Amino acid sequence: MTPEEILRLFNAKNMDYSWSFARYKPSDTGKWTHDYHRYPAKFIPQLVERLIDEYVRCKDAHINDPFYGCGTTVVTAISRGFKASGTDINKISYLITKVKSTPIEPAYLDQKIKHFLAKIKCLKDNQKTLFHTGNIEPLIPEKHTERINYWFTEENRIELGKILRIIYEEKDETIRDFFMVAFSHILKNCSIWLQGSTKPTRDFKKKCTKPYDALREHLIRMQKGSSEFYKLVPQKVRGNINDYLNIKIGDARSQPVPDESVDLVVTSSPYVTSYEYADLHQLSTIWLDLADDLREYKKEFIGTSYKRYENKELRSKIARDIVYKMTERNHKTAKEIEAFFIDMGEVFDESHRILKDGGRCCYVIGDTRLKGVDVLNAEVFAESIQYSGFRLDRIIKREIPSKILPQKRDEKTGRFASNDNANSQAYPVEYIVIGLKEQ
Ligand SMILES: C[S@@+](CC[C@H](N)C(=O)[O-])C[C@H]1O[C@@H](n2cnc3c(N)ncnc32)[C@H](O)[C@@H]1O
Repeated sequence: MTPEEILRLFNAKNMDYSWSFARYKPSDTGKWTHDYHRYPAKFIPQLVERLIDEYVRCKDAHINDPFYGCGTTVVTAISRGFKASGTDINKISYLITKVKSTPIEPAYLDQKIKHFLAKIKCLKDNQKTLFHTGNIEPLIPEKHTERINYWFTEENRIELGKILRIIYEEKDETIRDFFMVAFSHILKNCSIWLQGSTKPTRDFKKKCTKPYDALREHLIRMQKGSSEFYKLVPQKVRGNINDYLNIKIGDARSQPVPDESVDLVVTSSPYVTSYEYADLHQLSTIWLDLADDLREYKKEFIGTSYKRYENKELRSKIARDIVYKMTERNHKTAKEIEAFFIDMGEVFDESHRILKDGGRCCYVIGDTRLKGVDVLNAEVFAESIQYSGFRLDRIIKREIPSKILPQKRDEKTGRFASNDNANSQAYPVEYIVIGLKEQ
């Protein structure tokens, strides 16, 4: 389809309310292991389930997500007994997704959690809080001490450091990782990070949650989800998870996945200059010691404001028009948008390489507005997948069902803001752009 035809198609597109999943409650969207860890812009499992229902015909399918985030697609694929592969550049994503998609025998997990909680409770009971317990040295990663002091009160950082030391004593890697995900999840509430903010802002008046209490509560919730997930996963997968799970910390533009081996790609991409994932997860990154240099690490993310290209060209005409309009308003933002669409073009090429003939790629994406310019992400994706070899098969227009995404974004900065402070809509609707790799 020509760029003009694509623009007309999107203009005429009606909302398909059957894809809103409006009747689902948070307990449905957060079922099994889906609620282990907060993650910005995660999509709901029901969306992935329906795409699999509609497009996967074989029993031994292979599902891929180039931007697996907190693993919604990966967990869903494993729950059905399919192979799952994917990449994410965010190191904490890898930990979360691995833990969420690895079934653990419930009785064994129960015993491990009880033992772990008894250990830290005993430390706590001896004295008033873990903070006052003298006999265990807190584990605070040395190179990040300054950042940890910046984000945590003395009492909480000592208590967290002691808990972390006990987590590292666990010899079974699967269990240790399980505890680390719980630990990572509670960090935000235990810090002085302004509640509800997607920007790294401190709130000196915040009443921070106590680490032990938060961890205990969250572990019990995770245990319940884990047990439900375990029962769902077919026996053949449970015993051989490494044969089914191929997820890596890496770049979506070059995945360690063989040519023509994938049946379906289901993903939601990053957005240009919206979330700085590296910033957002910095509490986990510093405590779990996941990056040496936060600044360098940030540059590898697609959609980041740290990126620009001088020698690469945009294939999409719709994208070139957006960049042209933005150049008149703000040169730096124009270069960021250009870099984003160039990177995404390479991601589409990669999806085409790994898909079997007859396979489909499904990209979930919303349009947005930055500095007064409409950034037609979905239209650009629909045009661009064609240059990677796909036939534009289907476009689904849907309402965003959950409150996970802040609904508004600030027009000046283009960043998400709370609904009260923003003066522009973020993603009230989004699209699923579906490409078919023809035989
Ligand atoms: C919208 S989120 C995906 C959320 C996911 N669908 C879920 O349900 O959790 C986009 C993801 O792209 C990742 N990302 C950004 N740049 C990347 C790159 N170059 N390669 C792989 N992943 C990247 C971010 O870390 C983030 O996790």
